[in-house]
Amino acid sequence: MRVLSGIQPTGNLHLGNYLGAIRNWVRMQEDMDSDSQCFFFLADLHSITVHETREQRIRNVREMAAALIAAGIDPDRSVLFNQARVPAHAELAWILNGTARMGWLNRMTQFKDKAGKHREGASVGLFVYPVLQAADVLLYQATHVPVGEDQKQHLELCRDIATKFNADFDVDLFTIPDPIIPKETARIMSLRDGTAKMSKSDPSDMSRINLTDDDDTIAQKIRKAKTDPEPLPELASALENRPEAANLVGIFAALASRSADSVCSEFAGQGFGAFKPALADILIETLRPIRERFEMLKTDVAQLDSLLGKGAEKARAAAAPTLAGAYDALGLMA
Ligand code: TYM
Repeated sequence: MRVLSGIQPTGNLHLGNYLGAIRNWVRMQEDMDSDSQCFFFLADLHSITVHETREQRIRNVREMAAALIAAGIDPDRSVLFNQARVPAHAELAWILNGTARMGWLNRMTQFKDKAGKHREGASVGLFVYPVLQAADVLLYQATHVPVGEDQKQHLELCRDIATKFNADFDVDLFTIPDPIIPKETARIMSLRDGTAKMSKSDPSDMSRINLTDDDDTIAQKIRKAKTDPEPLPELASALENRPEAANLVGIFAALASRSADSVCSEFAGQGFGAFKPALADILIETLRPIRERFEMLKTDVAQLDSLLGKGAEKARAAAAPTLAGAYDALGLMA
């Protein structure tokens, strides 16, 4: 098993990232046997599609590394690195630009969402972003890619690119990866709108729980989270047309490692006045130790830089054979 996944180091790690992806990364890391390996990285080359100052970028990479370690990624057991220190990502992405089709990229919903009405003004980088993502995965022969639901389409594209490259050049170079998407937490929604996903780009900080939020902020965000006037039902299936209520019950269930049905039956007949304080409590208890570790880790810049340097060294070694195979398949550098 080769597990690989990435996160953009833009802004804070939030509850959607944690429940949708990072918690699964940690579980997969814990389940590794001696033949398996995990690669987790900060997609800082992807993050150039978002405007940030040089100083912000430097700080964000270090802080996201600290956040991942605080959440349970162990740099001694998993290879933790930032993409920019492994030039093979950019090199393979360029090669795969020859395989990816305009029509495939034109269908990417994330590009449409992010470019919005200003498509002509969007950067070429934003358009070819999923090709770099395919390179990230294929370089390491990843078999399993733990992500949230919003990355599913990018991984399908990755599989298409790998299949076409192998066929076009008559090689068996790339492993076709499987996305691992947790059923219950695939899409954690905004606290202000149950039909929009929780996201770091939402202008309202009240829409998300950040892993850096203190106890009072978490309690306040849950108190103010949008809900409806109905009491909670006996069964979670009755929440189908109540997106905000379904989201909050789903978050509680995920944090308590219980089913949504069991949470509903505990609170059945009660309103959100009873449910919200219980949800705030479990959130606070889960996030406090992560936040405390994060606050400590982020101050040791030299240690973080050294960890990332060592991770990149391992990643460069792991990526080299596949990149050489791609050049060879094309007859470049023969
Ligand atoms: P990013 O940085 O947007 O998000 C990191 C991970 O968090 C998941 N996620 C969510 N899951 C559930 N509910 C949510 N509201 C939510 N918001 C975010 C994402 O699905 C993701 O798994 N393009 C990727 C980074 C990337 C990557 C890769 C991932 C670059 N190369 C290769 C996997 C493999 C991204 O922007 O994720």
